Amino acid sequence: MARLIISADGPDNVAGWRTAFHHVAPDLETCSWYDPDLELRADDYALVWTLSSADLARMKGLRAIICTGAGVNHLLDDPAFPAHVPLVRMGGDQTAALMADYVLWAALGLLRDARTWALQQVAEVWRNNRVSRTCAETRVGIMGMGHLGAYVACHLHHVGFAVSGWRRSARDVPGIRVFAGDEALPDFLRDADILVNLLPSTTQTRGMINYDLLKQLPHGAGLINVGRGNHVVQADLIRALDEGVLGGAVLDVTVPEPLPAGDPLWRHERITVTPHVASEASREAQVRYVVDVIGQMERNERPALLCDPGRGY
Ligand code: GLV
Repeated sequence: MARLIISADGPDNVAGWRTAFHHVAPDLETCSWYDPDLELRADDYALVWTLSSADLARMKGLRAIICTGAGVNHLLDDPAFPAHVPLVRMGGDQTAALMADYVLWAALGLLRDARTWALQQVAEVWRNNRVSRTCAETRVGIMGMGHLGAYVACHLHHVGFAVSGWRRSARDVPGIRVFAGDEALPDFLRDADILVNLLPSTTQTRGMINYDLLKQLPHGAGLINVGRGNHVVQADLIRALDEGVLGGAVLDVTVPEPLPAGDPLWRHERITVTPHVASEASREAQVRYVVDVIGQMERNERPALLCDPGRGY
């Protein structure tokens, strides 16, 4: 019988996780990673968020590691990560729906220039920053058309935005034009009034959103970063905003996190910062997803969000 060892969110949160698992899957044995008497078994699953290198190395004999994050670069980048142990990313309907809601909020905010309203309210200024443009007249380009990117694209498409996507390799997403590969990137960027970053963080994608890339967007375009802070060259972003190359940015991820007091991103009048909150499913939704993944692996089925350490996500 499978057993789940819980390390996610630290020792203080293990009891809460265990109660939640007990409600959803009473037969699933759970225990704490922090139990000093814990003896690991080859059929154990582990639920993790961040881990020290020593903890990662200790997981080398496990059946699988399931991460509470949709992004797993922090695990795969650690040389101590046991690459032969299957690693599964967080998924599930609520994770995707929350991300889609966040991106919709951010896209509408950029479209109507809600940042100006926020600044005006602080200054008690009543001024109509008239924007007579609808979502149907706004083209959104999503970089990273994996599980989350494709879901977000369909959500925005249903609302009425003109949506396209870009990814390294071709993929069909019904109703969405997907550009594939480096050679298609300029065509994709040229038509993105709002660029959404949902790429995985890998050696190829880090620093990819730099001044040269931003320059290829329509003048005054918006940027929504819900990938990782390290995708964006932050000095280039500020330059692009100051020069009007970009009209605004919504950043849910930054380098570093938390963003320190005094960082120029906080006060920039064209930037909205949110504290890495775009998509964190409820504990119950995460528990249901993890139980499904364990069920699939126990039946020797391949979970949809199994990572490929060679690919980096
Ligand atoms: C959050 O960024 C996540 O990886 O889920």
